[in-house]
Amino acid sequence: MNVSIIGTGYVGLTTGACLAFLGHKVTCVDADESKIKTLQAGKVPFHEPHMEDLVADARANLRFTTDYASAIPQSDVVFIAVGTPPGANGSPDLRYLEAAARSIGENLGDHFTVVVNKSTVPIGSGNWVGALVRDAYEAAKGRKANGVFAVASNPEFLREGSAVLDSLFPDRVVIGADEPRTSEVLYTLYRPILEQTFQAPPYQRRPESMTAVPLISTDLASAELIKYAANAFLALKISYINEIGNVAEKVGADIRQIARGIGLDGRIGPRFLQAGLGWGGSCFGKDTAALVATAAEYGVEAQIVKAAREVNRLQRERVVEKLLAELKILKGRTIGLLGLAFKPHTDDLREAPSLDIARKLIERGARVKAHDPVAMERFRRENPDLAVTCCASPLEVAVDADALVVVTEWPEYAELHWEQLGQSMRSSIILDGRQLLDRDRLTRAGFKYIGLPG
Ligand SMILES: NC(=O)c1ccc[n+]([C@@H]2O[C@H](COP(=O)([O-])OP(=O)(O)OC[C@H]3O[C@@H](n4cnc5c(N)ncnc54)[C@H](O)[C@@H]3O)[C@@H](O)[C@H]2O)c1
Repeated sequence: MNVSIIGTGYVGLTTGACLAFLGHKVTCVDADESKIKTLQAGKVPFHEPHMEDLVADARANLRFTTDYASAIPQSDVVFIAVGTPPGANGSPDLRYLEAAARSIGENLGDHFTVVVNKSTVPIGSGNWVGALVRDAYEAAKGRKANGVFAVASNPEFLREGSAVLDSLFPDRVVIGADEPRTSEVLYTLYRPILEQTFQAPPYQRRPESMTAVPLISTDLASAELIKYAANAFLALKISYINEIGNVAEKVGADIRQIARGIGLDGRIGPRFLQAGLGWGGSCFGKDTAALVATAAEYGVEAQIVKAAREVNRLQRERVVEKLLAELKILKGRTIGLLGLAFKPHTDDLREAPSLDIARKLIERGARVKAHDPVAMERFRRENPDLAVTCCASPLEVAVDADALVVVTEWPEYAELHWEQLGQSMRSSIILDGRQLLDRDRLTRAGFKYIGLPG
């Protein structure tokens, strides 16, 4: 099939590369010229494991352009995968979605095209995008848009850091549409994934248990709400274990054993039960805010989701509280952050806890040094006003530091030469914000180990 993808960020590029790898003819369109130039040169503009391999493998079927007119008219399916960043009052900012919908409408061909919302969009956006596309088509062509297009919702569940795995081997595919004809087009598009009939690439093997992928075929509003409900549930699972962790710390219980003890219950499951300094990233914060805002619009108070957000906010403050309790004075102290990205295996810094923590420490007069294996260049570019010294190695961060904080659970941080780091510090204090390190090992290396929770 002929496919266009609007927006070549994490979601758009992954979707485009996967569909092209499966044999569809894909054109990725982005408004950002420098991004398109980078992609045309075979490079990926962000850090994502195996993405460059996938783009290279798919290149015969994959094209990049800034020009809607060279992509949309011949497309059977057009995915909208532009950003929907947080806007005012918790609702997402839909200006990119609106611009994309208008440009699609202006350029649609006369055969039937399915326009798919893959961006995470508020409930009712399917209808709104439909109206924008129709108006733009009718204004550009001077005739009715009847039968020319239909809108579908196909929310994305990939995780940055394992986007290729999640897209080729998803837990489920959700298709929301109001007419069977529309769902059938997307069913045909996704068939190789649903039936797992393609040969997996050597760098991303098929999980052993995987045979077929469940399809949830539903109406537009349900598909839109599935995405928010899933993200909110994951966010509150993390906040729940963090709240239990805070209780465990007070009563002297071990949160790692508690997480194991409850996670082995099949009804609960072990994932997203790692206590620490909470979630960050481009999705959980904005999607929980949007769910609260949508619920309020309809007179429903989303109390559990609100509480999960508040627990997450407070968790970041606990870093500063714990450092204050240990060091008493933060003015003039040097604090080293290990990790800047919001999670390992990505360079994405959107709503990363590191930003909040650095800001709070600087406000209190501390000096902040930091290291991240992949996110430092982006950190400097996106946060020129944040006075954080980026260091080439964790050892450089440790030199003359009064305390180190593990902010991102990069696996390599678990394997550091801790004795050497401790000897370079002014005082060997480590605050493990991710339950990454072995307390006994760090204590043997001469550190005062502080857990979050402790
Ligand atoms: N990042 C994730 O892990 C993830 C996972 C699931 C869902 N989502 C959702 O998917 C959507 C995209 O997220 P992302 O992280 O890929 O965003 P992103 O910011 O990485 O990429 C968005 C891209 O859209 C481009 N763009 C903006 N306006 C455009 C226009 N009018 N025409 C063409 N291109 C345009 C931007 O230049 C940018 O390259 C969001 O709604 C997000 O909530 C993201």
